[in-house]
Formats: sequence, structure tokens, C-alpha cells
Amino acid sequence: MRIAIAPTEAEGTAIAARVLMERFEQGKALGVATGSTPLGLYEKLREAHAAGEFTLSGSSAYALDEYIGIDADHPERYRNVLATELVGEDKTGLKDEDLYTPDGLADDPAQAAADYEEAIAPGVDLQILGIGSDGHIGFNEPGGSLASRTHIGVLTEQTRTDNARFFDNDIDKVPTHCLTQGLATIMGAKKLLLLAFGEKKAEAMKQVIEGPVSAFWPGTILQHHPDVTIVLDEAAAGKLQLADYYKAIWDSWNK
Ligand code: PGA
Repeated sequence: MRIAIAPTEAEGTAIAARVLMERFEQGKALGVATGSTPLGLYEKLREAHAAGEFTLSGSSAYALDEYIGIDADHPERYRNVLATELVGEDKTGLKDEDLYTPDGLADDPAQAAADYEEAIAPGVDLQILGIGSDGHIGFNEPGGSLASRTHIGVLTEQTRTDNARFFDNDIDKVPTHCLTQGLATIMGAKKLLLLAFGEKKAEAMKQVIEGPVSAFWPGTILQHHPDVTIVLDEAAAGKLQLADYYKAIWDSWNK
């Protein structure tokens, strides 16, 4: 794992943008995450597109997950969130027909999961990841299979509480089910770029970087991936035992 620990979220976001623009192969498939964590990164990509330094024109983008049963025009439907952030010449150049999200409105969600898994094979070039305070990546909650493929997931109470801020602070409005790439699907990406900011992520990041691989902390599966970059701020790195060591390594690579 390559681990960057930035003083602030803003500086971490700038590092993540640089890593993405250096390492994502234009024209290939980019795995995109939702939640609040990557929003600053998407802003940087829009700025870089406006400056003519980067484009998702000719590339495709694949979402990690989608709520089941959310209204088609709901602003928190992940397809809509990602379209708002990324699609169009005035954003990143990504075309709407090149944005792929699991079909949370399908009559047969299990079939929709299988179709998505087929669409994403053989894996994206670079997958952007956030992490839940309970250690989920995508919506792979604690206790799920470490070898899962795209499937129907049930959100934990913790995740629904965390996400209530996007739903008028009303947990009852947060969907209970989702379609999510499985952990094995995520592990099929050639490169992974995980961002985590804030104290709320500190325990999950302690587990992901220094804990044992365990289905109870799903993000720990990343220890088995050969090409992971993790970008943290000081708060999210607050529980790491070897933070100074990771910083020294990062600095030696980035002189
Ligand atoms: P957040 O969510 O970026 O809004 O904290 C991350 C996640 O749940 O994966």
C-alpha cells in the first residue's frame, strides 16, 4: 500500500487528484465512488478538464453501488449524483451513455446485479473508493463475503444513520437495500485509490492498514491488492501506529 497522510482534507484531495491524473489511463474505465469524500476530487477533475489538462471524454465510468427503489429523479440516486458531478463538456467530458450504474429500479434486482457484474468485467483501470465508518467499501457491509461479486446488499443501521444527512436527516427516508459491486469485483480493478478524511474514519483506516483481514472490516481486503494508494488527512490517520513511517516512505517516493 502507498499511504499519503496530508495535513488537511484539501491537501489530501489535491494529492488524490494528482495520483488519479497521473495513473488513470485515458480512454479506459474509471471506477467512481459517491458519498461526500470524493466530491473535492471531482471538483479538481472538472477544473483540470476546463484547463485542458484532463478529460473523461472517450473513457467510461462505473459506479460502485446504487440504492434500490430510490425515485428515478431523486438527487441522491447515485446515477444522478455522478451525472451532476461528472457528465458533460462543462464537467469532465464524460458522456452520459458512458456512465454505468447498477439499475436500482429494475424489477429483478438480482438480474440487474448479474448484468452489472458482466458489464464491468474484466475490471476497471482505476477505482476510486471512499470508506464507511463501519469499514464498508462500496456498500459491502461487515460480515459479507470477501469473495462477493455484484449483489443485493442490506445497509447497516450505522450506514443509514451516516447517510441520513443526504435525506433531510431522516433515517426513515434512507433506502434499506442497494446493489453494490462485491469485494471481488472491486479487487478486480487494476489500481485502487482510497480516500478517507476525518476522525470518524480513523478506526476503519486503522483496521484497513494495520488490522487483520476480516469480513468484519470489509475494507481490509485491500491488503490483498497489489496496487493500492490510500490518501488520508491527519484526523483519519489518527489511530495509525506507524503513521510516521508511512509518511517517510511517501516523502521518499515523492521527492
Ligand atoms: P462518505 O461515505 O464519503 O460520505 O463519508 C463514504 C462511504 O460510505 O463509503
